[in-house]
Amino acid sequence: MTKANSAPPDRPPLRAVRGEILYFTDDPAVAGAGAQAHFPDGLLLIRNGLVDAVGPSAELLPQLPAGVAVDDHRGKLILPGFIDTHVHYAQLDVIASPGEQLLSWLQKYTFPAEARFANQEYAEAEADVFCDELLRNGTTTALAFATVHPGSADALFAAARRRRMRMITGKVLMDRHCPDNLCDLGGTGETETRALIERWHGRDRLGYAVTPRFPATSSAAQMEAAGRLFAEYPGLFLQSHLAENREEVAWIARMHPGVRSYLDVFARFGQLGPRSVLAHCIWIDDEDRARMAEAGAAISFCPTSNLFLGSGLFDLARARAHGVRVGMGTDVGAGTSLSMLQTLGEAYKVLQLQGQKLGAEEAFYLATLGGARSLYLDACIGSLAPGREADFVVLDPAATPLIARRMAQCATLAERLFVFMTLGDDRAIHATYILGEAVWRR
Ligand code: GUN
Ligand code: ZN
Repeated sequence: MTKANSAPPDRPPLRAVRGEILYFTDDPAVAGAGAQAHFPDGLLLIRNGLVDAVGPSAELLPQLPAGVAVDDHRGKLILPGFIDTHVHYAQLDVIASPGEQLLSWLQKYTFPAEARFANQEYAEAEADVFCDELLRNGTTTALAFATVHPGSADALFAAARRRRMRMITGKVLMDRHCPDNLCDLGGTGETETRALIERWHGRDRLGYAVTPRFPATSSAAQMEAAGRLFAEYPGLFLQSHLAENREEVAWIARMHPGVRSYLDVFARFGQLGPRSVLAHCIWIDDEDRARMAEAGAAISFCPTSNLFLGSGLFDLARARAHGVRVGMGTDVGAGTSLSMLQTLGEAYKVLQLQGQKLGAEEAFYLATLGGARSLYLDACIGSLAPGREADFVVLDPAATPLIARRMAQCATLAERLFVFMTLGDDRAIHATYILGEAVWRR
């Protein structure tokens, strides 16, 4: 993917935004509290959609060329836009479907919902709703599953492109153990994927992700094709699911009797490497973690989904001990919210159940720079350091009466961040900016 280029002529080249600014420069769990840039009264200077300068307002305001309007968000908190590293855009309407765990949930709710994306008009309308919902929730970049229909990926790429969002998606590859109307019959998956890569990968802010749903629904031939495609095009992503549910893990083991572990299936088919992002990774062991870290693959931690489907508790401490890249995923529609704030709040609880502590700074790191590092996009997004793309979110500490009351008790930035992730949701998103331009305001 290329860096975002200059703003079109109808957009002013220079913009300034004022408020409390926070971004991470490294993982606070590894590098300590110094791994952040924090300006209580800060100014972001944006030139042609990129951060030109960031620092205290007192220093930067006097240098501001005459005529540059300042978007004033004093009293609110400006953070890099959230990065959702695992979500299914075609499952918006499956959210809140009760009573099942993974495999029966797929059959009962998800496959029928995804089948509707054979209709292109429907796919286009859903893609618009999805992108708008992401922006309303402060999410500016996503790694998203489309459906098996190539037109569903076209629809999401086009919707994101119209909004100038960073979006990585791909058509689902699935050729067995799935309904006929969602099946890549006759090896069409590879040809269709190739055509989509040629059409979209690296265009503006878009990237293609080879998308084998999970090894249960792809034949060996299709898994091989996915690995081949992943190796063939530079900068391509790969997204899938790994070790989410115990019944699923047992099923995969029966299908692949010779492998050491579920992860080994991806490795054997050449699907493990930088820019492969595997969701869940609950039922894995330390050898798997070491292997993922060594390969440069990333885990998407999807707490609301893991709780909702009763899948299990993701072990962040073990992933961190092995140095695996980790980002946050909402995994809607198994996940119960597109809000990254709610997702972080649930992550805290998942870790509490295992005796682990998720600090607020670490949580917001995972939702921003951690996600960018998982996608190898940290030179472009995930922070507000000069040169980065000016995608950011403005959080409102008075979003609700209760949040305002609780915020008033906070003495530190970490306490305020913790209130946002525990009590916040889409109502706390005051504004969302893409390449320096407000695309959502409450
Ligand atoms: N595993 C295979 N497909 C899916 C899916 O759509 N959602 C989740 N959560 N897990 C999966
Ligand atoms: Zn998923």
